Amino acid sequence: MILSTAASQALGTALADALGEPHGVVAYEQFPDGERFVQIEDDIAGERAVIVGGTPACEDHIDLLLLQDAAREAGASSVVTIIPYMGYARQDKQFSAGEPVSARAMAKAISTGTDRVLVVNPHEQSVCDFFSVPATAVDAAGRLAVPLPDGLESPLFLAPDAGATELAETVRDAYGTGTVDHFEKVRHAGDDVEITPGETDVSGRDVVVVDDIIATGSTMSQAIGALDDRGVGRVFVTCVHPLFARNARSKLAAAGVDAIYATDTIERSVTTVSAAPAVADTLDQ
Ligand code: R5P
Repeated sequence: MILSTAASQALGTALADALGEPHGVVAYEQFPDGERFVQIEDDIAGERAVIVGGTPACEDHIDLLLLQDAAREAGASSVVTIIPYMGYARQDKQFSAGEPVSARAMAKAISTGTDRVLVVNPHEQSVCDFFSVPATAVDAAGRLAVPLPDGLESPLFLAPDAGATELAETVRDAYGTGTVDHFEKVRHAGDDVEITPGETDVSGRDVVVVDDIIATGSTMSQAIGALDDRGVGRVFVTCVHPLFARNARSKLAAAGVDAIYATDTIERSVTTVSAAPAVADTLDQ
């Protein structure tokens, strides 16, 4: 039985379709004092419960922990937790004294209510080591090739920083043709990002910029800006996790993009393709 938190309804139902398993109904409510309430409405005794719960917002963590506990209480034979987008995963070390390792704190809490974890494209694979139950990373980047138009002109799959190069290669491989390059990025602070373009000739070429996350949109908008005045063809922006915090959407529009494609690990207006087939493949392994 697939059970989704309020934040992950689209991916949860798509995963149920991909696996050919039923999707249960869970009620979510908020008490007058702001606390969350969760109730599984189906009988799941003796069944494997696959809980799909992304955590882009703080209350999503609470829903996930409550749903895990409800599944145990309801007699599930095992609990598998899918984390489509893992919040706090980028705080994966102590950057200065007095800080927590937030990713570890979240992983520890989530581990208590589950037998196995799958995390979709964590910022760093090593985040999986923070869980005290078996945890596997799912690579859903290949799904980003699905909504891209056919017949891109001499396509260049571009990573806005070196760290996203493998993702760009994955999308290129899934699309079937094109070359890969990456820019260099320095983040001075918050949304203050400096991008240095590579040497690849982009004149007349369609460029697909690929990243794992769009958060403030600074990385993407700076990368697109660096393509200006270089005779680039169409510019497509793709990411696995469309966090789209603050004014990210309007920053990208101002930078000039032809289309934005993202998966349903976070449900946003730019969500155009489901990560469910990639999750289903890993779940069955
Ligand atoms: C960082 O290395 C990530 O891969 C993304 O590039 C980053 O999280 C995007 O953040 P923002 O949209 O705020 O620039």
